[in-house]
Amino acid sequence: MSRRLSIGVLGCSAIARRRTLPVMLGLDRVRIAAVASRSAERAAEYATEFGCTPAGYDEVIERSDVDAVYICLPNVLHDEWTRRALEAGKHVLCEKPLTGDATQAKNLTELAVTRRLVLRENFAFLHHPQHERVRELVAEGRFGELRTLTASFGFPPLPETDIRYTASLGGGALLDAGVYPIRLAWSLFGDGLSVLGAALRVDRRLGVDVGGQALLATPRGVLTSLEFGFQHTYRSRYQLWGSSAAMCLDHAFTPPPAHRCPLDIEEQDHSERLMMPAVHQFERSIDSFVDAALGGYAPETERPWLSGARETARLAEEIRAVATILPGEAGAA
Ligand SMILES: NC(=O)c1ccc[n+]([C@@H]2O[C@H](COP(=O)([O-])OP(=O)(O)OC[C@H]3O[C@@H](n4cnc5c(N)ncnc54)[C@H](OP(=O)(O)O)[C@@H]3O)[C@@H](O)[C@H]2O)c1
Repeated sequence: MSRRLSIGVLGCSAIARRRTLPVMLGLDRVRIAAVASRSAERAAEYATEFGCTPAGYDEVIERSDVDAVYICLPNVLHDEWTRRALEAGKHVLCEKPLTGDATQAKNLTELAVTRRLVLRENFAFLHHPQHERVRELVAEGRFGELRTLTASFGFPPLPETDIRYTASLGGGALLDAGVYPIRLAWSLFGDGLSVLGAALRVDRRLGVDVGGQALLATPRGVLTSLEFGFQHTYRSRYQLWGSSAAMCLDHAFTPPPAHRCPLDIEEQDHSERLMMPAVHQFERSIDSFVDAALGGYAPETERPWLSGARETARLAEEIRAVATILPGEAGAA
């Protein structure tokens, strides 16, 4: 393979235009080969904007000059197109979440291992070093014995035409926003979280969940409360509360590239604010995928990404299965 990763894009999505393709254009080691749409007109528009060839979905999968596929389709289509891309021998960067179905996640991650291909979800926050700093503080015992994690991610209502409000496209707050605190809990505590209970607010007219909360526990009994939705003011933060101190990290999931997030630590007689570095986490996510794909499949490096995808899907599926359903209104954007 050449030292440039040639990427084909499936879907002329908002996230591709706003974030991913501008980042890819700025990376020397990436060539955007083709961008596919259901509409020839939209493919041509994106291709002109990002200096590549317009295409259809099948064509991108089949092109011999495409090493990797970036999938930014509605959630319900991630499974099919990830499988097809892996079967065609392409590395895959799939938008989050890979899936909310545990069986699909198992099958896709096994396929990636069998084919020795890189399969990553674009959960950009995982690439921000601020969470590594939190893990260091936990490991140093700065908070004593951990008792609880509370993680929240939510934002105001969206236009009603948004894919997040269409049940048949895999919409809903759990799969869109809830997967962030789920994945955070996994990144702090690892495999083996269990779901103790949950509630989802469902807009019955649209048939999608617009908010919710879940209570999980680690095997050692750390209680983990996850809150999410799009009926809320913007909130993106998590708190750890231990036997000797507590902490809160604000802007935890989607900090803008120039933003330095405050990490507040509170002890009985002392409080402290640590300023985290400003990082372009979206660029880091793509850069890390490019590194992995160009470097050749490395099982040890890829294992945590695959476990994370499987556990995120399993927990989302379990939360949906046990959730008490409450009425909820999508609201107007
Ligand atoms: N990592 C992040 O920070 C982040 C942020 C936002 C979204 N996302 C993820 O990115 C994905 C796309 O989200 P988005 O907000 O960018 O969505 P979007 O703008 O609606 O884009 C989805 C694209 O999928 C294609 N598509 C194929 N079949 C479709 C169908 N039946 N209905 C609608 N669109 C269809 C469309 O492209 P064509 O018409 O060109 O084929 C459409 O532009 C989701 O999985 C979402 O969770 C990730």
